[in-house]
Amino acid sequence: MAATSATAFSVISTVSSGPKVGQVTHSKAVSIKFNSKNCLTSFSGLKASNSVNCESESSSFLGNESCATLSASYCRAIRKRSQRCYSYVQLHAFYKVAVLGAAGGIGQPLTLLIKMSPLVSALNLYDIVNVKGVAADLSHCNTPSRVSGFTGASELADCLKGADVVVMTAGVPRKPGMTRDDLFNTNASIVKTLAEAIADNCPDALIHIITNPLNSTVPIAAEILKQKGVYDPKKLFGVTTLDVVRANTFVSQEKNLKLIDVDVPVIGGHAGITILPLLSKAKPSVTFSDEQVQELTVRIQNAGTEVVEVKAGAGSATLSMAYAAARFVESSLRALDGDSDVYECAYVESNITDLPFFASRIKLGRKGVEAVISSELHGLTDYENKALEALKPELKASIEKGVAFVQNQLVTA
Ligand SMILES: NC(=O)c1ccc[n+]([C@@H]2O[C@H](COP(=O)([O-])OP(=O)(O)OC[C@H]3O[C@@H](n4cnc5c(N)ncnc54)[C@H](O)[C@@H]3O)[C@@H](O)[C@H]2O)c1
Repeated sequence: MAATSATAFSVISTVSSGPKVGQVTHSKAVSIKFNSKNCLTSFSGLKASNSVNCESESSSFLGNESCATLSASYCRAIRKRSQRCYSYVQLHAFYKVAVLGAAGGIGQPLTLLIKMSPLVSALNLYDIVNVKGVAADLSHCNTPSRVSGFTGASELADCLKGADVVVMTAGVPRKPGMTRDDLFNTNASIVKTLAEAIADNCPDALIHIITNPLNSTVPIAAEILKQKGVYDPKKLFGVTTLDVVRANTFVSQEKNLKLIDVDVPVIGGHAGITILPLLSKAKPSVTFSDEQVQELTVRIQNAGTEVVEVKAGAGSATLSMAYAAARFVESSLRALDGDSDVYECAYVESNITDLPFFASRIKLGRKGVEAVISSELHGLTDYENKALEALKPELKASIEKGVAFVQNQLVTA
């Protein structure tokens, strides 16, 4: 059968029966598996062979939350094209992703997860140290993307040229006793320098910022891009996916729900009380006592600090962050690829509150943010309304601090 044009699929062989639970299909490129709802539940970019084991019913990092995963779009695409006839699919990689800070605690597992994406053709790793070894290591994985390593300022431009998505995870993490804002002095300059390079070399890329304090670093990047005349608010994202991942995990544990079904929107920002999980909007609908709401909200807000304390000086969340960031990259690539049903929460320029930047659910499209979804802010509980009002002054101050940092640099210069 002929290739199926613009998206990541071509069906190269079909069978007449519909998908069966546990059925594993093979092609030269990938192996995939469907569940009883015709949903793809696992994907392996490893070299296909009959020995590929796809026994688990649980979702992979491509899992199913908020329709924001590969599985949903793959199944839809296959169903649309083959009308229940499917079997061998071949995925084509198209996109170039650059990761800045790629040798770090988040960078390494994140690049490994991105290396498994069927949508990535080139994966560029940048860091100021130790990145060539990471790139060499990763390049031996026989998945579609070509991996290249770039070290130091002189190689940054080459890393960024032609990138469709840039993920910024460069900077220092917290140690016990530190707030995210304590990282400002070091990380603000790093974000500024890297944002300048992005503006100069790949101004059209989607920019995913992980570096903390996120509430300030995203406004810093926005100001730099504005100065360079290339700011597109639809393409700049603060990655808050980890807050959603944590909320989903904790709610599913509390209510004994299947994780794949749980979706909790998290709004506001990404530090302390600015992280506001909307438990009243959780899907499936669940009820909590006031005490449970308080406990769960505080646990989600402090989950990063929980990890920092247990790591006791060895950094902050890296593996869960890599997982969350990889999900956000995958969602962005699916949207770039034309999937019209991609939703995530992210910290973006927004007018749904009186704050210029705000995390909420967004719809992703070919040009970045297609819509900022305001409906989830309607009908909040008293607890959520109060928490929303309480977070605004802190978030506003963090945004202003970021903007002031760039303006002061301009004056000094
Ligand atoms: N958004 C979130 O939810 C979230 C979650 C966890 C951590 N973080 C943040 O992510 C950042 C990275 O955390 P980590 O644990 O990977 O730290 P890490 O120290 O392990 O890694 C950071 C990497 O950045 C590199 N780096 C430093 N300066 C650089 C520069 N100018 N250019 C390129 N690379 C540079 C370092 O060499 C290092 O490899 C921190 O700011 C942390 O607070 C964000």
